[in-house]
Amino acid sequence: MSAAASAPAAPELDRPALNALLRAMPKAELHIHIEGSLEPELIFALAARNGVKLAYDSVEALRAAYAFTDLQSFLDIYYAGASVLLKEEDFHDMAWAYFLRARADNVVHAELFFDPQTHTERGVPMATVIQGLKRACDRAQAELGISASLILCFLRHLSEEAAFETLEAALPYRQHFIGVGLDSSERGHPPEKFARVFARCRELGLHLVAHAGEEGPPAYIWNALDVLKVERIDHGVRCVEDPALVQRLATSRLPLTVCPLSNVKLCVYGRMADHALPALLAAGLCATVNSDDPAYFGGYMNDNFIATFDALPQLGSAQAYALARNSFEASFAPPADKARWVAELDRCFSQHMQAA
Ligand code: ADE
Ligand code: ZN
Repeated sequence: MSAAASAPAAPELDRPALNALLRAMPKAELHIHIEGSLEPELIFALAARNGVKLAYDSVEALRAAYAFTDLQSFLDIYYAGASVLLKEEDFHDMAWAYFLRARADNVVHAELFFDPQTHTERGVPMATVIQGLKRACDRAQAELGISASLILCFLRHLSEEAAFETLEAALPYRQHFIGVGLDSSERGHPPEKFARVFARCRELGLHLVAHAGEEGPPAYIWNALDVLKVERIDHGVRCVEDPALVQRLATSRLPLTVCPLSNVKLCVYGRMADHALPALLAAGLCATVNSDDPAYFGGYMNDNFIATFDALPQLGSAQAYALARNSFEASFAPPADKARWVAELDRCFSQHMQAA
């Protein structure tokens, strides 16, 4: 798919009509940690099912702990929440709950991150994790018409050797995941720490993505591009501090999977009104909107779109179109699927513009 396309010129929609369009437009989600979709209610249900003792007495007490000061303060709670996942059914049920939410938001394609080391370190077999998630992905296609694939993430606070062991353990299930990513604590764990394992994944024909420039400096984005040779940057918002990097990302149309509610919850921005998304789009970047860890950050895809557009008056129907179209362009789906979704997007836009 080619370069940035814009919505047909039209008078701007009023706020209710714009929100209706944001909700209705077909979209792809490219940055969702499936363990970050575990709602407190499901954490408690799985804890009861598996006999796992939680550090919180109630759903309300757990939710009240979701007041984060930075990425690490979130990750500590996020890894604790994932401790209730033990059986294949648990992984299936978690992903299925996400797909039902995604369907309600008109997500037609989702690429799900999963963190196998969070589970294998607790003695859960790799097969349990991947087969449970894969079964939910197949069911999403069959029952909801959502196309879904899996991206295995290495935890960057662990060693490259541990990443190699994880890759080895996952290779018997190679056909069930399309790529690898890099997540967890960013500061002090630069992309180049994983140069050799990403080179190996590249040889294996896996797609490559990495979190960079969420809390880490622009240098981490450069090195994710030049050392790891990633095809997308997850977050990447700190690129705005480096004009040469913005230029590189714009010219190459190398996508950023931006997560606005996450950035505010983790204090990357003090308030949504300060978010760089309008600047990224204005500079011609292939930016997309995503939910990251929706159960922890206050919302799923449409919540992210609406919160962002509400706070940033520079965003209107042209940017809505660009973001949805970018999400298809940036996906790893086959070209024929991308073309079909863009045609659906165009139909949706025409209807909403005519109705306005
Ligand atoms: N793992 C889950 N959410 C993450 C985020 N926002 N950044 C890094 N690692 C993560
Ligand atoms: Zn993330």
